[in-house]
Amino acid sequence: MPVLRLRRLKRDSAARDWSNRTTLLSKDLIMPYFVVSGKDVKRPIKSMPGISHLSIDRLVRDISQTRERGIKAILLFGIPEVKDRLGSGAYKKQGIVQRAVKAVKKNFKDIIAITDVCLCGYTSHGHCCIIGENPRPETRDPKYSIDYKSTLKVLGKIALSHADAGADLVAPSAMMDGQVGAIRDTLDKKGFKEAGILAYSAKYASNLYFPFREAMASGPQFGDRKAYQMDYRDSDEALREIGQDIDEGADVVMVKPALSYLDIIYRAKEKFNIPLAAYNVSGEYSMVKAYVKSIGYRAKGIETERNIVLEILTSIKRAGADFIISYYAKEAAGWLN
Ligand code: PBG
Ligand code: ZN
Repeated sequence: MPVLRLRRLKRDSAARDWSNRTTLLSKDLIMPYFVVSGKDVKRPIKSMPGISHLSIDRLVRDISQTRERGIKAILLFGIPEVKDRLGSGAYKKQGIVQRAVKAVKKNFKDIIAITDVCLCGYTSHGHCCIIGENPRPETRDPKYSIDYKSTLKVLGKIALSHADAGADLVAPSAMMDGQVGAIRDTLDKKGFKEAGILAYSAKYASNLYFPFREAMASGPQFGDRKAYQMDYRDSDEALREIGQDIDEGADVVMVKPALSYLDIIYRAKEKFNIPLAAYNVSGEYSMVKAYVKSIGYRAKGIETERNIVLEILTSIKRAGADFIISYYAKEAAGWLN
C-alpha cells in the first residue's frame, strides 16, 4: 500500500479499526481463580489488588459475572486446608478443586473448566514434585532430590480426580519430564479420553511469580525451581519442550510468563500448528496495577488502566497466543463490551 494512503488510514480512527489485523475478544481470555474452603469468603490477596481468595459459593457468583462479559473459560487453583510432605490433599475426592469444579459445571454447562495440576500448593515443602531421599542436585539443594516415578504417578492421580469431578481440561504445571504422557495415559485408561490437556510446556523460572506464591502459600521452602523450570536465557529449549508435550498428547500448549517471552510465543506459533496459550502471570498483573497507581490522577488522557491493559493483552495475541490467561481477564472483558 502506498505510504500516503497508509497515512490517511492511520489518521482516521474508523479506518484504523477496519484495517488493523489483531482483534482481542473476550473469548480469548481465561480467568484464573483461587478457591478456598468455607462459606461467603472473599479474602483479598495483598500483592494482587482486585484479586481475592474465594469460597465456592462466591466463586460461582463471580463466574456468573465473568461469563456475562463473554469469557468462556476459567482456570482453577485450590488452596487446601492442610499441606503435607506428599501433597495428598491434591487428589482427594472431596478436595477443594474437585468440589469447585463440580459446582462450576453444575451451575454453568457452557463454561470450560480448566484445573491446575501440580503439587506445590499441596506440599509442605512447596516443590512441584515428590521429594526423594537421595542427595541429588535437582532441587538445587544437596539434601533433596526429585522422585520422578512417584511424582508422575501422583500427577496422574490428581488429573484423574479433576476429570472425574468434571474438568474439561487439566493443566499440568509441574514441569516434570513426561508429565503430559503420564497424565494422558492415566486419563485414557480410566475412561476419560474426552478430557483435554492444556500443558504448561515452556514455563520459565521467572522472578514474576511472587504474588501467585503468596496467594497459594506455595513458595519452595528450600532450594528453588530452577532445576525444573526453564532458564530465561534460552529459547530453543522452549520449542523442544513444546514439541515434546505435543508428542505426548497435549491439546493446548502454553508459554509462561507472557510479556518477557513474546518471542517464544511468536516462535511457537510459527513452528507448531496447535492451539497456543500464554500466561500473563501474577507479577505482570501486579506491575500494571502498581504502574496505574503511580501515574494516578495525573494521567487523565489516554493512559488509562483500560488502555494500558488492552494494549498489553492485544500484544500477546498479536505475538501469536490464541488464549491468554490473565488476572485482568474479567476486567478486560468488561472493557471490551
Ligand atoms: C507452579 C505454578 C506457578 C504459577 C502457576 N503454577 C509458578 C511457580 O510458583 O513456580 C505462576 C502463576 C502466576 O504467577 O500467575 N506450578
Ligand atoms: Zn507447582
